[in-house]
Amino acid sequence: MQYNIQKLVENASDLTCKPQVVTRAENLLLDPTVAFAEVAKVVSMDHALAARTFKVANSCFFGRMIKAKTLTEAIVTIGIKGLYSLVLVHTIKQYYKSFGLQERSFWNHAVGVSIASMTLAAEHGLCSTEDAMVCGLLHDIGKDLMNGTEPDHYANVTRKVYNERVSYSCAEQELFGFTHSEVGFMLAQKWNLPSDVQTVILYHHNLKTIEKDAVELLRLTSIVNLADIMCIKLGMSIQEFDNGFSWEDVEAAKILEFSEERLNELEPVIRRRIDEEKKIFD
Ligand SMILES: [Fe+2]
Ligand SMILES: [Fe+2]
Repeated sequence: MQYNIQKLVENASDLTCKPQVVTRAENLLLDPTVAFAEVAKVVSMDHALAARTFKVANSCFFGRMIKAKTLTEAIVTIGIKGLYSLVLVHTIKQYYKSFGLQERSFWNHAVGVSIASMTLAAEHGLCSTEDAMVCGLLHDIGKDLMNGTEPDHYANVTRKVYNERVSYSCAEQELFGFTHSEVGFMLAQKWNLPSDVQTVILYHHNLKTIEKDAVELLRLTSIVNLADIMCIKLGMSIQEFDNGFSWEDVEAAKILEFSEERLNELEPVIRRRIDEEKKIFD
């Protein structure tokens, strides 16, 4: 059977229409004249989103000395960009309402990569935590779309990854003729997500394609790539690496100037962070 990437993205039901709440939030958040208190009023109408905003603002990633007590304080802490990311997270989480095993495994991986990306961004110091959070969470969104639309055929991809120890991209290319990075990119375009988010999704397995002078983009994509590899190492994926794995061979580590020693130190830190902070996404 021939698979067509255009058709796959067009025909997928739930995920391809940009949720209205995202559009509403975008309009509100992109208007610089809107005061934080006004934004807080809108957020407070959705209890789950309000709760999540508090959780994130009071998590270790935003370094508040005293916990935010009001929603306005919480929003000021994470910033408008952070809040926009949370609205996206919130929306995507709702898509996973009816979790099967495969969906749960993808969700856990996305949450892990998001938290690992935030940790690595904070550690690196030159990359925004909010960008890292949203890009980490969305990097593999193409897998959800492929699996959601063609579950039986996607099961063959997963089987191939597991049995032959190849990467998802490799198995998808062979069985579908395109990869989750391309599908995710098309979805992100359709949703009109920020262009850096689109690009990170497209290139998260292919850093070499990013232009060398797009320094910030290269950094953000490298953060997500490194976080992805870290989560695979931590067992948060069906994919596994050979015993011969070394951080020294990882391009993103070179780009971000993280030594093998530092990454080995960070591995247990990230594992702990994921356990402690995954409640952000509950
Ligand atoms: Fe991926
Ligand atoms: Fe991934």
